[in-house]
Amino acid sequence: MTKILIDCDPGHDDAIAILVAAKRCDLVGITTVHGNSSLENTTRNALAICTLAGLRVPVARGCAGPLVAGVTHAADIHGKSGLDGATLPVPDRAPVDAHAVDFILEQAERHKGELVLAVIGPQTNVATALRREPKLATWLKAITIMGGSTTIGNITPAAEFNIYADPEAAAVVYASGVPIWMVGYNVTRETGFRQDEIERLRQGRGRTAAVIADLMQFYLDGQRRVFGLDIAPMHDVCAIFPFVQPDLISHVEAAVEIELAGRHTRGMTVCDLRNKRATGTGVIRDARAPNARVAVKADARRLIASVIDTVLTYP
Ligand code: BDR
Ligand code: CA
Repeated sequence: MTKILIDCDPGHDDAIAILVAAKRCDLVGITTVHGNSSLENTTRNALAICTLAGLRVPVARGCAGPLVAGVTHAADIHGKSGLDGATLPVPDRAPVDAHAVDFILEQAERHKGELVLAVIGPQTNVATALRREPKLATWLKAITIMGGSTTIGNITPAAEFNIYADPEAAAVVYASGVPIWMVGYNVTRETGFRQDEIERLRQGRGRTAAVIADLMQFYLDGQRRVFGLDIAPMHDVCAIFPFVQPDLISHVEAAVEIELAGRHTRGMTVCDLRNKRATGTGVIRDARAPNARVAVKADARRLIASVIDTVLTYP
């Protein structure tokens, strides 16, 4: 089983990623960050999901805002609490004493060469950790990211939320030299729960699946209202799958750069998918060395079926 640490901003789809990683990976911890809602809310939500599902995983609080710009939250989709739509249990414990940045460093050093960092919110904690201890880049086995897109964004036509919410942090992470797996909105927008799949969860025997069904209904309604989608996209769990069932998402190696300055494109992941092989061809700029494996396609139906089967195993 892959050792994994999830850095997240729960968030409906973050909650699903936590449940899947806890069953199908060796989940060493959860760190929280600003993003879908305030840090206070995302931390409480992470603890509430752990309490609901009976997970004894340490949760560490992280950064409350991005490196440079102001905070961006996603209440239009995730509600005021960041996880609206169901009554969640009161958390049965507090976060651990360590800050998320220290917790990431400690776990990465302890599990040198083995730990995969799944970054499914804005990348502020990870960028801060890389700046504080550059050796982190050599300790990690990989960073798997839900963020960016090879095509359209969701917050702007060009930018996806997790990158848009802290582009300077994303730039640090993508330039870190750590092997990066990126799954972006181009794939995750099409990989989601249909209405009948939410009903399947509701009919499960466990309380966890019933609560998750209520959460997913709220989230699907938001996706219908805001984007006219008829599925509830499971963005974040797509970043876990390369380490669970690698055949379900296809990737290509590419150079990815973060746009920091563009008036219309700030927060865009500029992915070089030109397949340019020849060099020194004058006006056609050479490709830079690939720094990421970028997801281009998912077997969405099989992936979602696998997610539902996993959620249904919870009590
Ligand atoms: C990403 O943004 C958040 O709203 C989701 O949790 C996901 O991480 C999708 O753009
Ligand atoms: Ca998220």
